[in-house]
Amino acid sequence: MRILSGIQPSGALHLGNYFGMMKPAIELQDKGEAFYFIADLHSMTSLFNADERRKNTIEVALDFLACGLDPQKAVFFKQSDVPEVTELTWLLSTVTPMGLLERAHSYKDKTAKGISPNHGLFAYPVLMAADILIYDSNIVPVGQDQKQHLEMTRDIADKWNRIYGETFVLPEPLIREEVAEVPGIDGQKMSKSYGNTIEIFGEETTLRKKVMSIVTDSRAPEVPKPDAAQNLVIKLLKLVAPPDVAQEYEDRLRTGGLGYGKLKEVLFDYYWAYFADARKRRAELQKNLDYVHAILREGAAKARVTAREVLQRARNACGIA
Ligand code: ADP
Ligand code: TRP
Repeated sequence: MRILSGIQPSGALHLGNYFGMMKPAIELQDKGEAFYFIADLHSMTSLFNADERRKNTIEVALDFLACGLDPQKAVFFKQSDVPEVTELTWLLSTVTPMGLLERAHSYKDKTAKGISPNHGLFAYPVLMAADILIYDSNIVPVGQDQKQHLEMTRDIADKWNRIYGETFVLPEPLIREEVAEVPGIDGQKMSKSYGNTIEIFGEETTLRKKVMSIVTDSRAPEVPKPDAAQNLVIKLLKLVAPPDVAQEYEDRLRTGGLGYGKLKEVLFDYYWAYFADARKRRAELQKNLDYVHAILREGAAKARVTAREVLQRARNACGIA
């Protein structure tokens, strides 16, 4: 079984990224052949600062390794180090209907916000399809917001297979129900673009402030709260505290007598402890960036072996080879 996922180097890793994509991906590295990459080419559709991209790329690599990606088990690389993927993008784009891309939520959301779209943003799902198909991927762990991209990948692969004969493996998304959409401090989906994130790595005082600013209502501590399970702080606590502890606080909130301030402090402590080991590992890795660069280089060399093979299959199928 081949497992593949990617993450853009577009900013600091947050709880949504970690629980929605990174943790499932890391757990799957023991279950099959894992390919994980940093989608620097995708980041070019919305980030136009070269230094920032370079910096973010190494930051994401540190995040992934600190959180437990084992380069002995998973092939870890930078998307742009496998140039075969851009050639496959072209081949796939010739069977991708314009209408399919026009329906993409990510594209529609950005244009609705007034962002003037470039062609790369419009073609984003085709590059993503190439990322997935070029490694014969079976399983793609992602958050809910990537579901449509996976459906598009399957549509594109299926269309190609019908025109040129069986070439590509159809991938399945792996979306964990309980973390499909981790909420941010304002209750909307946690996302860099909404400014409502709680980062995994960062300065303690700043992060504590963020946790303390999670939106709650104005009911007094002693008031029983029958909707305790819907409480944002409880939802986040369930991610980082043992289940019985989270349940105990949920019950106390439901019964009444537990203030939101106290609950947020509890959340902060569990969250801070949850990532303590990763924080230590990250600080160590940061002192050895040569090692990190070497992992990415070796990963790319391995990834290219498969990418070349699948690209050749596609070139043969469509009659350019
Ligand atoms: P952002 O929305 O912050 O820009 P990305 O689009 O870079 O996040 O997402 C990277 C990965 O993390 C994707 O697989 C995405 O589905 C997942 N992800 C992002 N936000 C969340 C969230 N709030 N809940 C669950 N998964 C998420
Ligand atoms: N679009 C994904 C995101 O924003 C990143 C990504 C690029 C990806 N290529 C991929 C994810 C291939 C999974 C598989 O999060």
